[in-house]
Amino acid sequence: MLLLGKNVLLGVSGGIAAYKTPDLVRKLVAKGASVRVVLTSSAEHFVSPLSLQAVSGNTVSNDLLDPAAEAAMGHIELAKWADYLVIAPATANLLAKMANGIADDLLTTLYLASVAKTVVAPAMNQQMWQAASVKRNIALLSGDGVEFIGPAAGEQACGDVGPGRMVEPQDIADYIDNITEVEQTLSGKTVLITAGPTREAIDPVRYISNHSSGKMGYALASAAKAAGANVVLVSGPVSLSPPAGVERVNVDSAQSMHDAVMAKVNDADIFIACAAVADYRAIDQAENKIKKTSDELTLTFTKNPDILKDVAALPKAPFTLGFAAESQKVEHYARGKLEKKKLNMIAANDISIQGLGFNSDQNALHVFWPEGDKVLSADSKTNLAHTLISLMASHYNNK
Ligand code: C5P
Repeated sequence: MLLLGKNVLLGVSGGIAAYKTPDLVRKLVAKGASVRVVLTSSAEHFVSPLSLQAVSGNTVSNDLLDPAAEAAMGHIELAKWADYLVIAPATANLLAKMANGIADDLLTTLYLASVAKTVVAPAMNQQMWQAASVKRNIALLSGDGVEFIGPAAGEQACGDVGPGRMVEPQDIADYIDNITEVEQTLSGKTVLITAGPTREAIDPVRYISNHSSGKMGYALASAAKAAGANVVLVSGPVSLSPPAGVERVNVDSAQSMHDAVMAKVNDADIFIACAAVADYRAIDQAENKIKKTSDELTLTFTKNPDILKDVAALPKAPFTLGFAAESQKVEHYARGKLEKKKLNMIAANDISIQGLGFNSDQNALHVFWPEGDKVLSADSKTNLAHTLISLMASHYNNK
């Protein structure tokens, strides 16, 4: 009940996912929040104000120029009332208006008038989500400190498959709850995080890589940011937008990830190695495309530097949190790595469990440190990231 006594202003814009917002209100209320809802005029085509009024217990506002609503609680008063402004679903059109300071209705005016932490759950067709203008607007809003949750990928109402679905109400409610929990525990600290896969070139057109999606590392970056840290994310090639207010350094090979980390690590208080770094690279990278002249092809590989081990071995090493993907004897191997790499903490995931971990939105972790351990049971990567950051911060702060 971390949202007990907190005021959540929920802004709903006109996407099909708006039909899920009464459920979102119920979930926020169940966590103890007071919720008031503002609808755009197009949102009313997808969800009834009366339903939202019934579940929130408050009148629903939709018009900037409504004398009755202004008399009850004026729009500036409403903007000041909110501890959190949650916009779900946020359409491409609404994002464009928010990014450009347009305030031509009640919701966009409230966004401009409010200093509340703003969390946005976008929802749109997958092609619209990938449009250059939408990406620009997301980057602008991220720079302004807006936090994004989702969108999730999957089948869409229009029949398309891809990223653009609104994150489920339970995950949005948990996310807001978690922001409250981890609030400012890493204030003033710099957290350096590696995420995603690496690509090891074998010739100018081919590479060897792995299935890491980067989701866990990006969720950790977002959670560390929400906990007040200054976050630098060294990322291998992934199809994710950088979280709000996070500095992203793009890399491809293990060596380039190593170089980028070493260039930033002196400023870091905490280093989190979440990337799935390739252990080996081809000894010789062919100068030209390898031709299919023979029936067999042999490549020789050499070991890549271990970024995490090198960081932990630095004379002024930051607090280090590593990851271990294991398919058997999870505790044995994870504790082995904790000791061998001289880490402060290690988060192990059992990759033999179907539907969790690699390339999934869900994960489960078993975290070890020299004197103890904690199981973080299966949950969305977003929620797990908040729990792990808060566990790590309490160890770091008691160090
Ligand atoms: O030894 P193993 O590869 O299983 O260790 C995994 C941990 O080490 C992860 O935290 C991963 O990000 C990190 N790592 C690294 N550089 C490598 C290999 C792994 O930072 N070359």
